[in-house]
Amino acid sequence: MRLAGKIAIVTGAARGFGEGIARAFAREGARLVLADLDAAGAAKLAGELGPAAIPVVADVRSGEDVEAIVAAATRGFGGLDIVVNNAGTTHRNRPMLEVDEASFDRVYEVNVKSLYWMARAAVPVLRAQGRGGSIINIGSTAGIRPRPGLVWYNGSKAAVNVMSMCMATELAEDNIRVNSVCPVIGETGLVADFMGMPNTEENRRKFIAGIPLGRMSTPADVANACLWLAEDASSFITGILLPVDGGRCA
Ligand SMILES: NC(=O)c1ccc[n+]([C@@H]2O[C@H](COP(=O)([O-])OP(=O)(O)OC[C@H]3O[C@@H](n4cnc5c(N)ncnc54)[C@H](O)[C@@H]3O)[C@@H](O)[C@H]2O)c1
Repeated sequence: MRLAGKIAIVTGAARGFGEGIARAFAREGARLVLADLDAAGAAKLAGELGPAAIPVVADVRSGEDVEAIVAAATRGFGGLDIVVNNAGTTHRNRPMLEVDEASFDRVYEVNVKSLYWMARAAVPVLRAQGRGGSIINIGSTAGIRPRPGLVWYNGSKAAVNVMSMCMATELAEDNIRVNSVCPVIGETGLVADFMGMPNTEENRRKFIAGIPLGRMSTPADVANACLWLAEDASSFITGILLPVDGGRCA
């Protein structure tokens, strides 16, 4: 098993990419903290995964909540090796001047400030353990090859990508690796907002037209990339932006 003995946090684990990542990590032997705003969703998944998974109801916009996520790992399992900052949100795809201030602030609090809170809570633990670690941030192709209509969201993901690279350089001396996984559009709870139109096959086809491999990303695609960045096989990989995008950014 690729993650045997490892202790991981996955935020936004109740559904979508986070659920896929959590299922893959559990299958490969990790013990897991499943953090999400959605109490019922996190509890249901934890129930399926068994005693190796602890659900935590948390809002990643809150420094206190993020500390509680890390404490669940250290108290519940005795340490921490892997953090996946996956929880994220968007404003609806629309002309940039139509996005109100509250939506802008929500996107940056959830997508960007959460990484600040998680770094403050998790990095001291990883440093004190002295056995390195892997932090995986879910960025996006939106932060590499942006389209119109998601200006502020794209900026938040560009911030995630750059913070990942920069954290990697600063934390390398502690053997804490930091990488960004950058999915192309996938059919999760956010897809209608990303498209700015109803989630119909006809509308999805318009977006798939820009993806050379001819389909959207799936939770399994994203989970497989995260699995590799989490395991020791990628021990010399840090500071990369890994597109999971069927060639969209090529
Ligand atoms: N779906 C896509 O097309 C796509 C593409 C590129 C990147 N991403 C990124 O992937 C990540 C996962 O998104 P998804 O597509 O699976 O969306 P999703 O809406 O299906 O799942 C997101 C999960 O995060 C949780 N969450 C949201 N805000 C939270 C908060 N403040 N605190 C704690 N939990 C919170 C939600 O309850 C939900 O369970 C996000 O960072 C998103 O930006 C998605």
